[in-house]
This record gives sequence, structure tokens and C-alpha cells, in this order.
Amino acid sequence: MPDETRSEDAAIVARGLKKTYRGDVVALDGLDLEVPAGMCYGLVGPNGSGKTTTVKIMTTLTTADDGQAVVSGIDVKADPDRVRKMIGVVDQRSTADLTATARENLTLQGRVYGLKGPELKTRVSELLEQFGLSKDAKRLVKGFSGGMTRRLDVALGLVHRPHVLFLDEPSTGLDPEARHALWEEIDRLVQGQRMTILFTTHYLEEAERYGELISIIDSGHVVATGTPDELKSTLQGDALFVELAGAVDPDLVKRSLAGIEDVSDVVVEDRRLRARADVGARAVPRVLSELESAGIQIDSVTVSRSSLDDAYLLYTGRRFAEVDQAGEEAAAAGAGAKRAKKEGGEGR
Ligand SMILES: Nc1ncnc2c1ncn2[C@@H]1O[C@H](COP(=O)(O)OP(=O)(O)OP(=O)(O)O)[C@@H](O)[C@H]1O
Ligand SMILES: [Mg+2]
Repeated sequence: MPDETRSEDAAIVARGLKKTYRGDVVALDGLDLEVPAGMCYGLVGPNGSGKTTTVKIMTTLTTADDGQAVVSGIDVKADPDRVRKMIGVVDQRSTADLTATARENLTLQGRVYGLKGPELKTRVSELLEQFGLSKDAKRLVKGFSGGMTRRLDVALGLVHRPHVLFLDEPSTGLDPEARHALWEEIDRLVQGQRMTILFTTHYLEEAERYGELISIIDSGHVVATGTPDELKSTLQGDALFVELAGAVDPDLVKRSLAGIEDVSDVVVEDRRLRARADVGARAVPRVLSELESAGIQIDSVTVSRSSLDDAYLLYTGRRFAEVDQAGEEAAAAGAGAKRAKKEGGEGR
């Protein structure tokens, strides 16, 4: 497993964070995290895994039931005011005032942090320029695209030149072009200022591309940490993916492949068979012939290098997309139940 000794210069430290919400929802279950200063660090996990709760605790918006959170050497529980001055926060949902212009939003935010006069004016213009919003500075935010709003959100988080920036799902819901534009700005910040950034995402490819180090979070705790390459390199060999022509007894598939020594981790779900092979290309002919001998028809075979999705499967035993989807459905069901309750209540 990637090392545990990167900590000397940590800008963000979480030790054994626990948080249970009312109704016994365990959001964090002993979360540990260590973000070295000057790094762009990704916390990647599916819906409901505890990303926002972690960010809320680190940014003083809620408190942990147990454990410790330290930002820039300051304990967030002991001295939340000092922490707030050091950090910038971009919430999962935009906090910009839709009825104000981009310039007004930034100016107000600057005042909240004690900026005024020419210094404030210069800072606001600088951020508008940096985030490509100068020509839209006088437009009301309610007319902005999703990408423009998110760029403004990040600019708002930076008004007071924080040392540490928290970005909770900065690009969720944006189209690929807008995501790219946003990340270009964020990338420039890290390169230019060596600011520490902790971002959360449920896009594995985003974590892989922009996270120098990433932690995979699942059910309220970190299950793996490393560079994307380190996480993938814990997976030996290649991924094999076979589309079966029809539903097949999983045990029959497993039995038929059991004799191939360099094929492992065989998983069969519906008509899909996944396995790992030391050398994919070498394993394919044998896999096909064993399946054929067992009377199993196939539609297609793919060999690919290991992905973060494979790493996620290894560490959690589940496919990322499926967990993410299940989390989304549970959240939607929860919201529906809440709505129904409210509507019922109002009707009485
Ligand atoms: N205020 C709250 N009250 C009750 N339960 C909550 C509250 N906030 C979060 N939870 C629950 O805690 C768990 C973790 O939620 P959290 O928002 O931290 O996850 P997340 O990883 O940010 O998810 P998403 O990807 O959907 O943003 C979920 O089961 C969620 O439903
Ligand atoms: Mg969240």
C-alpha cells in the first residue's frame, strides 16, 4: 500500500473522524486523511459516502462526534475562527447570490473578509479576469451558465487569498467543456501559488487526472490512498471483460476458468464476466476455449489496462458506478419521503 510517511508537512489532517446524523445515519466512521501542503488532493467516493460531511467538518460548518480535524496546524474545534480565515470553501451547491452581479458577489465577499477601498476593487477585478468573467461582471448571476457560476463560486472562495481551498464537487453537473475550463483555472492556481486544495468528486477520471494524491472513501472511511498510478499498480496485470450471449450460471463460468493459472478474480454479473489476467492477450484464447468447452456462448471480449474503477472494486468489493447509482436512488427516495411527509402534514 502507498506509504504513510508523507505527513511532515500536512496542511489538512483528519484522525478518526466520526459523525452520525439523526436517525442513526452513520456518515463518517473513523475517517483518516492527510493532505500535504501545496498539493491538489482528491477525495473520491460515490453518492452518500461521506465526502461533504468530511468537508463540512474540516471547514467548521459542522462538528465531528469524535476524532480530530486540523487545518494548517489549527484544530478546527478548538479555534474555528482562525481556521475560517485560512481557508476558502466552495460548497457542493452554489452559494452565489443569483440576484446580484458577479462583481457585486465578489465585492460583498471581499468585505466580509475585511477588504475595502482600492485593494478590494483590484482584487475583485483580478479574480474576474482570472476566471474569465470580466466581460460578464455586470450581469446578474441568475443568467449565468453552470460553468460560469462554478467559476464564480471558486473565485468567491479565493477572495481573501486562503492557504487552503476546499472544493466540494466543483464540476458536478457541468458539461465536459465547462469542467475542463474550470479545472484549467484550478490547475493554474495550484501551479502558480502552491495552494493546498482538497477536492471531492464522484468522477473517477477527474480524480485520476487532477489529484496528485487521492483517497478512495467508502461508507464513511478511507479505504485506499495513493497516487492514481500507485492505486492502479496494486492491481496486477490486465482486466478482462467478456460479454456473454445469455445468462449463465456463475458457478459454471468460475469452474470452467479455474484451471487457467494466470486468470483470477472472476466475477459474473448477469451477462458480464470480469476477471484479471497477468497478460490479457495471452489469456484470451484459453478463456475462450474453456468457455466454449463448457457450452458458454460469448458476444465479445475486451482486454484493458487497470483503471481506477478496478482499484475501487478491489478495495470495496463493489463497482463504483453501481454504488454511486444506488446512493443517488437512496437520496432521491429520502427526498421523496420527506416531501410526502411535508405535503401530508400541510394537508391536515
Ligand atoms: N444533514 C443531514 N442529516 C441527515 N443525514 C445526512 C445529513 N447530511 C448527510 N447525511 C447522510 O450522511 C451520509 C453521507 O452524506 P454526505 O453528504 O457526506 O455524502 P457525499 O459523499 O457528499 O454524497 P454526495 O456524492 O451525494 O454529495 C449519507 O447517508 C447522507 O444521506
Ligand atoms: Mg456531497
